[in-house]
Amino acid sequence: KDQQQADLLKLYADSAKMYQHILVNTELGEPALKYLHERGLDDETIKTFGIGYAPANQLLLDFFKEHQTDYQLLRQSGLFIENQAGDLRDRFVDRVLFPIKDASGRVIAFSGRILKKSPNEPKYLNSPETKLFNKRSVLFNFDLARGPIRQQKSVVLFEGFMDVIAAYRSGIQNGVASMGTSLTDEQIYMLERVTDTLYVCYDSDMPGQKATDRALKLLGGNSRLNLGVIQMPDGMDPDEYLRAQGQEKFVQVFEDGKQTPTAFEMQYLKHDLNLQNTPDQLTYLQAVLQQLAQLSSSVEQDLYLNQLVAEFDLDKDDLKQQLRSLVGQQA
Ligand code: CTP
Ligand code: MN
Ligand code: MN
Ligand code: MN
Ligand code: MN
Repeated sequence: KDQQQADLLKLYADSAKMYQHILVNTELGEPALKYLHERGLDDETIKTFGIGYAPANQLLLDFFKEHQTDYQLLRQSGLFIENQAGDLRDRFVDRVLFPIKDASGRVIAFSGRILKKSPNEPKYLNSPETKLFNKRSVLFNFDLARGPIRQQKSVVLFEGFMDVIAAYRSGIQNGVASMGTSLTDEQIYMLERVTDTLYVCYDSDMPGQKATDRALKLLGGNSRLNLGVIQMPDGMDPDEYLRAQGQEKFVQVFEDGKQTPTAFEMQYLKHDLNLQNTPDQLTYLQAVLQQLAQLSSSVEQDLYLNQLVAEFDLDKDDLKQQLRSLVGQQA
């Protein structure tokens, strides 16, 4: 059993090496290397993250056949697709590959990004779950980020690989990604053990904001982490913002753009309301006051009340009274 695990780990390590060799050193890898360079990744970053390329043929299968690797091991690895007759072929074809590593930095899976948009194929294709790869309990880059997370006493949670990498090469190295899927309790537990502060930095498009709202609710209920939100301007994801605005502005968002969960919610609650209309204004105010009623700090409540007073030209004492009645209902 342990031998089997060791064999699988060796297989993934060899595969990662192979895929990277093809990307960096061969003609087959040139289009993918060009793609990565165009996305702003230099060769050092490619090495740091172990990025590789799976070309458009059965390269990995041929390689392991040549080395007479055990057929059952190949089947279990998830790196191949098996047809009815039991024949294997490479799962990853013509994709840039991001190795997914466990907490000790051992490759346990891959995620492959398509080079050109295609209507029929997913943008990212992941390894299936295996004995070693349980999606729910893996965070991309946790292995490299653990030290910086401890040092900086905080973690930044991103959506995607390229966002973690964008941050990393800008000096923000305490970043991990939940890889698109919604955050799990297992992932929260991993982070709680190394830090007490978490910033959610998901894409600032509408799906990203929805996911932020969901993550904050989950984290608020299931963790003791201090929470913050960082949102890139203009609906961008972090990688897009870095490329559009450059490193200095990018880093500045992390320094000056931290929001409390409540500040985020106050903005997010507006998304399907039209605040030109009084009914929507009332709905909004009611929802915000509900949020404020849950805060334990009256100073923090006061801060947001002042914002509401200014934004809606309201009487602060009226707001306070309404807030107090909501707090009363909760108690
Ligand atoms: N994802 C996935 N499968 C998809 C799309 C997304 O697993 N079909 C995961 C990936 O981990 C991806 C993350 O969700 O990094 C965030 O999705 P998205 O914002 O759509 O992708 P980006 O990370 O922005 O990818 P890119 O910058 O390469 O376009
Ligand atoms: Mn997204
Ligand atoms: Mn994105
Ligand atoms: Mn995108
Ligand atoms: Mn992106």
